[in-house]
Amino acid sequence: MKIIREIPAMKDWVRAVKKKGETICLVPTMGYLHKGHLDLMRMGKPMADHLVISIFVNPTQFGPSEDLDKYPRDLPRDTELAASVGVECIFHPSAEAMYPKGYCTYVEVENISEGLCGASRPGHFRGVATVVTKLFNIIEPDIAIFGEKDYQQLAVLRKMAEDLNMNVQVLAHPTVREDDGLAMSSRNKYLSTEQRQYALVLSQALLKARRLVEQGERSAEAIKAEAVRMIEQTPESTVDYVEIVDPALLKPVERIEGRAVMALAVRVGATRLIDNITLEAS
Ligand code: PAJ
Repeated sequence: MKIIREIPAMKDWVRAVKKKGETICLVPTMGYLHKGHLDLMRMGKPMADHLVISIFVNPTQFGPSEDLDKYPRDLPRDTELAASVGVECIFHPSAEAMYPKGYCTYVEVENISEGLCGASRPGHFRGVATVVTKLFNIIEPDIAIFGEKDYQQLAVLRKMAEDLNMNVQVLAHPTVREDDGLAMSSRNKYLSTEQRQYALVLSQALLKARRLVEQGERSAEAIKAEAVRMIEQTPESTVDYVEIVDPALLKPVERIEGRAVMALAVRVGATRLIDNITLEAS
């Protein structure tokens, strides 16, 4: 396992691979790896000659009052886990290397980055789009894999790669869940034992929405109201947003016709969790 911290060293490694005509698959992460991350890597392993991951807690995607400083980090553990699924190289730059003094260039994806998490985390997707562009420029992956758990992030990055004619295929992996339904997340570590139980309301509200659609409910307002009711009944839990949007442009819909995505963000104690599900009206 190679751990590369310097950008020029990473570029040298990439240059040697490209010279041989070989391909690279990249799974960008912020580390503190869990089974969700590892499943993205397992998906990528057979898709290219080389599987690279990045571990970088990206400061530009965190708001001033968010958890940048306390975001969990454990490189030795991450290295072992990455090795177990066949990762060949970890790119692990410092914040100073990625954003040196005087750094002033950002990537903004309009419209689809404005609602949902974009509304409650101003500047978040600008930070994500910027760092992923930098990672793409440094690592030049043929394929990059992102999780559907962060549905809006995936949509923003797909649009960015398309709009900016990037030479990378952006692929999605379905949300990986704990046995009881909780979407895996590095932030689940923040939850107390009780909060871990309360957090089940996210997946349960989404499954309830799917059942309502199956039973014929088509009003987005009615489906969202039921989710809000479930969340408000759960101790320590507050709604950040509950929204039903069209799958491509992420604009709110009033009625479920064809496919839609229900996305929600809930604060359990001080921890903000997100999840989403596809709703399908037949
Ligand atoms: P991070 O939260 O570490 O997630 C890294 C990748 O793993 C993302 O594509 C995310 O969607 C995916 N992922 C996380 N939990 C998942 C789950 N339960 N099921 C499926 N996929 C899951 O997302 C980021 O980091 C950052 O914003 C990043 C893209 C690395 C840019 O800094």
